[in-house]
Amino acid sequence: RPRVLSGIQPTADSFHLGNYLGAVRNWVAMQESHDAYYCVVDLHAITMGHDPAALRQRTRVSAAQLLALGLDPERCTLFVQSHVPEHAQLGWVLSCITGFGEAGRMVQFKDKSAKAADTTTVGLFTYPILQAADILLYQADQVPVGEDQRQHLELTRDLAQRYNTRFGPTFTIPSAYILKDTAKITDLQDPTAKMSKSASSPNGIIELLEDPARSAKKIKSAVTDTGREILYDEENKPGVSNLLTIYAALTTRTIDELLEQYDGRGYGDLKKDLAEIVVDFVKPIQERTRAYLDDPDHLDKVLAIGAEKARAVASVTLAEAYRNIGFLSPA
Ligand code: TYM
Repeated sequence: RPRVLSGIQPTADSFHLGNYLGAVRNWVAMQESHDAYYCVVDLHAITMGHDPAALRQRTRVSAAQLLALGLDPERCTLFVQSHVPEHAQLGWVLSCITGFGEAGRMVQFKDKSAKAADTTTVGLFTYPILQAADILLYQADQVPVGEDQRQHLELTRDLAQRYNTRFGPTFTIPSAYILKDTAKITDLQDPTAKMSKSASSPNGIIELLEDPARSAKKIKSAVTDTGREILYDEENKPGVSNLLTIYAALTTRTIDELLEQYDGRGYGDLKKDLAEIVVDFVKPIQERTRAYLDDPDHLDKVLAIGAEKARAVASVTLAEAYRNIGFLSPA
């Protein structure tokens, strides 16, 4: 079975619809066909300033949500990044083969550091190198992510190739797995920008754990485009196209089928129906998330088993990487 790894940050009280449709939905599908490793990347969540108690809580809620969304510990390995010390260890080694300029070209770093120049940390700068370590430790063949992670995946491939060339075959070269249709779910209020934990306004983002009535309201007041016809046209009708994308992804209908269904009808009908679909989708997820959170012993156990399984793989890769780069094996 091919190997897959992906990660998600515990930086908000809830995941949003973009996280689910762009990434986690594919994680769930791939646990059936792949040897799958998924982690809550808490090391990545401290690069911009944070509150320790909130981080602890969000890490738990993140794991509970992933289980509620369909990750099955019998079918995949679910773990918390900081439970596997090899991530930080390989991160250091990879930082020593990454060019300063190369890291400085990462668009996400440039965006985030431009917005908070005074508080930008070295950790935010080296963030993508740690992400490369996450992936390479597991010899992942594929990495299911949204479009915004493509550049980080390119860096990961470059680093893996460089390491292999300089120090001998060590890492599998991973590919990004990005499904075009759902690669970029956009902000409901600003449909040319991606839906984002850090950048979207509250009305632009559907949080999986928010009051479903609120989600319904947000869908109904989503910015739509000029004209009245329901068409799929990302250029000229980004708002309606985003709603159609969400609609198709949450049902088993294709965009073409939706266009036929809404032929001659208005934006209001589409929004009203989609609001209902979203509510029906999030309600059971909220219930299951709550149930996992109500049983912290079980959650801890799932994460402990996950960490052990992850370490078994990560430690072998790290030992190999250490050997190849010339570190003396401890006696
Ligand atoms: P994060 O936590 O920002 O997002 C988690 C996943 O959700 C995807 N995503 C979206 N997809 C479609 N439309 C959107 N609007 C949208 N917003 C977010 C992201 O692309 C991502 O797949 N750096 C990563 C976390 C990470 C990681 C890794 C990923 C750390 N190590 C190793 C893969 C492999 C991040 O910040 O994701």
